[in-house]
Amino acid sequence: MKTPIILLTNEKGGVGKTTTAVNLASEFAQRGRKVLLIDADFQANATNQIGAGERAAGSGKYFAKAVAEQAPFMNYVVESNIPNIQVLAGSQELKNAYRQFAGKPRETHMFKAVLFPDDSRAELESRYDIVIIDTHPIVDQIVLSAGAIATGYIVPVFPEGPSVDGLTWLIREIKEAGFQNPHLTLYGVLIGNHMPKNATYMKMIDQIRSFPQQIEGVRVFQTIIPHSASVAASNTMRMTALEYGGSKQLTSAFAILADEVWAIAEEHLRLINDRTAAAAAEPSITPALIEEIPELGLNSVATVSATDNQAGTSRDDQRQIIVIEEDVID
Ligand SMILES: Nc1ncnc2c1ncn2[C@@H]1O[C@H](COP(=O)(O)OP(=O)(O)OP(=O)(O)O)[C@@H](O)[C@H]1O
Ligand SMILES: [Mg+2]
Repeated sequence: MKTPIILLTNEKGGVGKTTTAVNLASEFAQRGRKVLLIDADFQANATNQIGAGERAAGSGKYFAKAVAEQAPFMNYVVESNIPNIQVLAGSQELKNAYRQFAGKPRETHMFKAVLFPDDSRAELESRYDIVIIDTHPIVDQIVLSAGAIATGYIVPVFPEGPSVDGLTWLIREIKEAGFQNPHLTLYGVLIGNHMPKNATYMKMIDQIRSFPQQIEGVRVFQTIIPHSASVAASNTMRMTALEYGGSKQLTSAFAILADEVWAIAEEHLRLINDRTAAAAAEPSITPALIEEIPELGLNSVATVSATDNQAGTSRDDQRQIIVIEEDVID
């Protein structure tokens, strides 16, 4: 297995799932990685923001159509405005997409039927270095079907009371929902839309950062995405922050997040592959990966300032950044 499949999920609406999905996709694409963005949200925000909406409408190619026809993804992807990003576009039809699978084991259909119908990931992995799935704000059968084939999931939150209230419950629910996918792991809770000078936000961040002590297997990304007016501005222009040329602090944060996500995903896939090889040799060994990922040391706390960040620090140094402290509200 070499292509991470990453699900963005949270039952709360408006917490940065789509913003994270498109900006991470954009950052990976800029590094030359081939990205498949799956918009599993009937609102189709990611599709439009990445510039694939008109192409999908013009060609009639939508994720929901591939699902309805249980046909391989290749025939339904559309280009985005960004080289290296292809899209399985969102549409209203997703609301009914699950119906045809009612009563069937979710790991056998929907996403699987479209992404690897013949049980092999080879076709997908030959085309893409990473798959990012944006979802709607509810953990329903569609999201659980995505979880059944994903390697990891990211839970974006804003550091506000309502955003955090259901978080413990959500993570437990996803863990216990039984995605019937032994590989699926929480890559991290991602704090976004942060205003560093706001004391309430800082308190919330402390609370979120304490989750790993409360729930086994929970990780919180070191990177915190700052609040930036350029998110709304780039959304309006149907661009990612990177394309739009948004605030340096915002684009730097997504770049550092991409490093963090990639490091976790790469290590996770290495563990899956090692375990799979070991299990093939010794069938009594079962994969139990979640507890091992924190060995990466990515939960340790470090803070540097925006000035340090812009002073040409190396990627390794930048990976240690958790908060870009000053002047993020542009
Ligand atoms: N870092 C940020 N700075 C400023 N505004 C932000 C930031 N991140 C997200 N937003 C704004 O918050 C709103 C919600 O973001 P987004 O659409 O990414 O959330 P979502 O979780 O995908 O929502 P939904 O549940 O409806 O799919 C948007 O208006 C977006 O512009
Ligand atoms: Mg969204």
